[in-house]
Amino acid sequence: MPIRLNKDHLKGFLTESDFQTIAPAVLKAHDALHHKKGAGAELTGWVDLPGRIPDSLVSDINGLARDVQKNSNALVSIGIGGSYLGIRAAEEFLKEDIKLPIYYAGQNLSSDYHRNLLKELKSKEVTAIVISKSGTTTEPALAFRIVKKFMENKYTVKEIKKRIICVTDEKKGALRQIAAKKGLKSFVIPDDVGGRFSVLTPVGLVPLALAGIDIKKFIEGARDAQKEFSNADLSLNLAYQYAAARFLLYNKGKTIEVLSTFYPHMVFVAEWWKQLFGESEAKDGKGIFPASLNLTADLHSLGQLMQEGRRNIFETFLMAGKSRSKISIPEDKEDWDHFNIVAGKDMDFVNKKAQEGTALAHLEGGVPNMTITVEKRDAYHLGELFYFFEKAVGISGYLLGVNPFNQPGVEAYKKKMFQLIGRIK
Ligand code: PA5
Repeated sequence: MPIRLNKDHLKGFLTESDFQTIAPAVLKAHDALHHKKGAGAELTGWVDLPGRIPDSLVSDINGLARDVQKNSNALVSIGIGGSYLGIRAAEEFLKEDIKLPIYYAGQNLSSDYHRNLLKELKSKEVTAIVISKSGTTTEPALAFRIVKKFMENKYTVKEIKKRIICVTDEKKGALRQIAAKKGLKSFVIPDDVGGRFSVLTPVGLVPLALAGIDIKKFIEGARDAQKEFSNADLSLNLAYQYAAARFLLYNKGKTIEVLSTFYPHMVFVAEWWKQLFGESEAKDGKGIFPASLNLTADLHSLGQLMQEGRRNIFETFLMAGKSRSKISIPEDKEDWDHFNIVAGKDMDFVNKKAQEGTALAHLEGGVPNMTITVEKRDAYHLGELFYFFEKAVGISGYLLGVNPFNQPGVEAYKKKMFQLIGRIK
């Protein structure tokens, strides 16, 4: 079932005529994206990517997954940004499907984190997958050094060839050179797909398949989304409606978007979303600041800010239609807390009421909001959701008038850091 988008709580902030006025600009953005006429067109390979993922690649990855699951009980995924967040988001979203636990490295530079990781891995049979499009990013490069040394101490050269997998550019970067020199198994990240759009390339497909995720279903969901969200007509395309609503709200002074989830397994989807929207839109002094809330927990901390703080916020709720399991609230004879009223109900019933109540309260407090519902927590629907957001950000970036596919600002900290550590090239 396709993603649902409820815009009822935009009333009072946006009108139907706002959407009609923006429709020609959306059409122009669609045309630029689909015909590779817009800024950063060389990095728009993700638009039709789901439909052209070769079956042979999927079989190759699934074959490798079978071997790795036989010889390993720990998978270390080394990467940062787009080479980390989509994998982590999928792992958390599909928690119950994971057969091979994933450990992460290279998404920070903490000594304690990496030391503790090695301690945990000591007693495990490890396969490491190092992911970097550029092949030169500091964090994964250093983590790879550490994990490689650990594995060289643990395994023979022959074993290592089976246990280290590289996912990187076809030709460029240090990682490609290492893979070639050491004869390591490797996969290619296509040139025309940027990091934060790469979850449907080997960046996401390889670690997720190795961990036990059904990547065929994941791709199938993205393929259906590719068809669903290719419609140029704003009134029929929910990804475009989401993009248009964001842009219209931004023009009315709502410069912060909060993505609020009511499910712990969606917290990392929000982290992935923050990178996707933050890096794509925030340029030339423009852009919506993407923030996220983990509800209901954050209602007891940032709920106050949402209700009564500065009114420059809009909110998007990310909901699941169905949970995988049920847990009924027990009846209590004494009923001290007066919650027998929901005894016998599933916990998620109350969760959904909490969302409905929050959406109403925030609207009354001056926060327009939308709700995106993904029907089920499975690989198919996750593929669909990822593609929905990618398509939306492509359109909203063009509406804003920026190049949504580069990230020049990310270089600034690297330059300063390299100066400080004395690295000259
Ligand atoms: O979106 C992007 O391209 C970046 O945020 C990258 O994903 C991130 O910097 C990691 O880069 P790489 O995969 O080259 O190590």
